[in-house]
Amino acid sequence: MKPLDKILISNDTSYNPIWIMRQAGRYLPEFREIRKKNPNFINLCLNVNLSSEITLQPVQRFDLDAAIIFSDILMLPYGLGQEVKFIKNFGPKLGKLSLNDIDKINEIDFVQKIEPVYKAIKKVSSEPIQKNKNTIGFVGAPWTLLVYMINQKSPKKNLKKNFFKNEFYINRTLSIIEKFLKIHIKNQIDNGANVIQIFDSWAGLLDERHYSKYIYTPTQNLVNYVKSLNIPVICFPREIKNYKKFCEIIKPDAISIDYNVDPKEIVKTIKIPVQGGLDPKILLTDKETLKKEASKYLDIFKDHPYIFNLGHGVLPETDPNMFEYLVKTVKDY
Ligand code: CP3
Repeated sequence: MKPLDKILISNDTSYNPIWIMRQAGRYLPEFREIRKKNPNFINLCLNVNLSSEITLQPVQRFDLDAAIIFSDILMLPYGLGQEVKFIKNFGPKLGKLSLNDIDKINEIDFVQKIEPVYKAIKKVSSEPIQKNKNTIGFVGAPWTLLVYMINQKSPKKNLKKNFFKNEFYINRTLSIIEKFLKIHIKNQIDNGANVIQIFDSWAGLLDERHYSKYIYTPTQNLVNYVKSLNIPVICFPREIKNYKKFCEIIKPDAISIDYNVDPKEIVKTIKIPVQGGLDPKILLTDKETLKKEASKYLDIFKDHPYIFNLGHGVLPETDPNMFEYLVKTVKDY
């Protein structure tokens, strides 16, 4: 049984597997080396050899329990034909969304456009090093993708006042997103992904009165879909106001928590396996603090199935030695 399956399928509390969100990325000199020569981020994600290599860099270097495929949640709008660019010190910038255009996209066009992602999953998952490790596929949650596709960039703290104004446009876009997310998930699984994580990075932007329509219903559809394919699914509804309620409604195989929630409250109220929580900024302090803070999570979840991870992605300014020390702390615990 692979390390994450012990938690996700067997509810084992004796071992804490570790992988880290954004483990393949800018804090690693070997990634920056490749990135320097490949200024177009989307093209890098679509380069099977390089994206496989980048995926495995942290796994080889730190002996992590899982590889997460080097791709991006915005490959979905890209696959639908919306322009997606990544601009230095700005982040993602998307083109105008034309419902007329994305309405015409069919499954074959979509899969062809992002096929290298699936080939990379196949390549990574068949590497010998992955034999006893998980290969994690992922998608953005429908709500978070809707935000990017309509807002055309990362939102700040709040949505624009007129975000929900054109209800027809929003509803139609959401249903196209849901349809293609299923296709995207199925292709990742068919090519070797054995866990799926759903990132709802902007769940925290919504008022609770909107949760049902934009978070619960579409996420539940996806979670049930992944479960129907017999693959475990982890949800990360970042900064959602009520993790307990989310878990009771959605019933994912594990819940990934952000660093603003109190892990003591989570362990008391949530029955399913938990992942993550530690503030990525702790990796910018010193070894003593890192050990203390990481041990806090391990102590709290001592008798609860727990996958070690951070409460959001590892920061680009992180020292790889601190990352290594974190992995050692978790493995020695
Ligand atoms: O190692 C991994 O975790 C796998 C790869 C991965 C990336 N993006 C690569 C990436 C994953 C799982 C993601 C998910 C993702 N992408 C999310 C959800 C998680 C989260 O952070 O909340 C979101 C919201 C995105 C959209 C996105 N992609 C943003 C906002 C940015 C720019 C911000 C930034 O960190 O620069 C990206 C770019 C991106 N995706 C990078 C990487 C390694 C940085 C690209 C670079 O080298 O410039």
